[in-house]
Amino acid sequence: MSTDIEVVGAGPIGLAIGWRCAQRGMTVRVVDDGRTGAAHAAAGMLSPVAEAYFGEEALTGLLVESAKRWPAFAAELGDVGYRDDGTLVVALTSDDLAEAERLRAYQASLRLPITAMRASELRDREPRLSPRIRGGALAAGDHQVDPRKLVPALREAAIAAGASITLGEAGPAGVTVVAAGCGSAALAGVPVRPVKGQVLRLRAPDPGPPGFRHVIRGYADGRHVYLVPRADGEVVVGATVEELTDSAVTAGAVLDLLRAATDLMPDIAEYHLVEVVAGHRPGTPDNAPILGALDGRPGVVVATGHYRHGIVLTPITADLIADLVEKGVPDPMLAPFTPARFLS
Ligand code: GLY
Repeated sequence: MSTDIEVVGAGPIGLAIGWRCAQRGMTVRVVDDGRTGAAHAAAGMLSPVAEAYFGEEALTGLLVESAKRWPAFAAELGDVGYRDDGTLVVALTSDDLAEAERLRAYQASLRLPITAMRASELRDREPRLSPRIRGGALAAGDHQVDPRKLVPALREAAIAAGASITLGEAGPAGVTVVAAGCGSAALAGVPVRPVKGQVLRLRAPDPGPPGFRHVIRGYADGRHVYLVPRADGEVVVGATVEELTDSAVTAGAVLDLLRAATDLMPDIAEYHLVEVVAGHRPGTPDNAPILGALDGRPGVVVATGHYRHGIVLTPITADLIADLVEKGVPDPMLAPFTPARFLS
């Protein structure tokens, strides 16, 4: 049987596109080079609000729309560690609070659901936060999934829908979708660069969930950190943002992340350090993904450059790219994210 669509890259984005296309009756092959991708390091925060940054309004719109699709997407896949306990923004010092509050005011000006909170209100929600914290905010709609559950669930769903997933290189196909993260630059000539992130995995000393349930996005003496608690006792602590291509894990990164994490939640010092990993986010010049057909390369579509937002953007990317492949016409939502904004 001939392949209607070949997807290059078996990370969450490629697998979800393959799955959605197979569900629409296309003959789908997903190919991968077998290298570990960004999802292995990713914490899985679904944070359209807390990650809405100055000057990125089009990206924020896409994040919000994709986050809305997550509950149904997760329900289709089964256990992907979806949790809707919400996110607390927590600031340690008055300077940290001023920085956090500036961003919160911007997010609120976009009518995003984020509420300022006093330190006492934060500690009522999470009693293990340090008594030193000065304040912060609640983004109740910012949730989380576990990327290490998501990837196998997507593989299974894609295969159940009829897609094949193989190691190797792209072959002939009606349409080739390049969803190869940092590898997309070499394959499609798009401006995607690796942005290194070092991430820790801790485990609560006692069996059961960790002693907190919200995702914590912290500002601690000028350092930025996030703590993501999983139901099984794991806590993901991230992440550095480094313009580096190596995969070394460094003492300085571990020190910085743990100092910030323990400043905000001192009990973390008793947790077991079980993993330090470095991944590479596929960064783009404007921090937004590159989604759409490549001019001058008939039959080639790209879905890459998701930078810090690959997990949250998985559902909408899959839906919009499957639509594009099926109908040959881009959804208007894709307009700000075309490859042509860089390549023309
Ligand atoms: N979205 C989290 C990160 O890139 O570290």
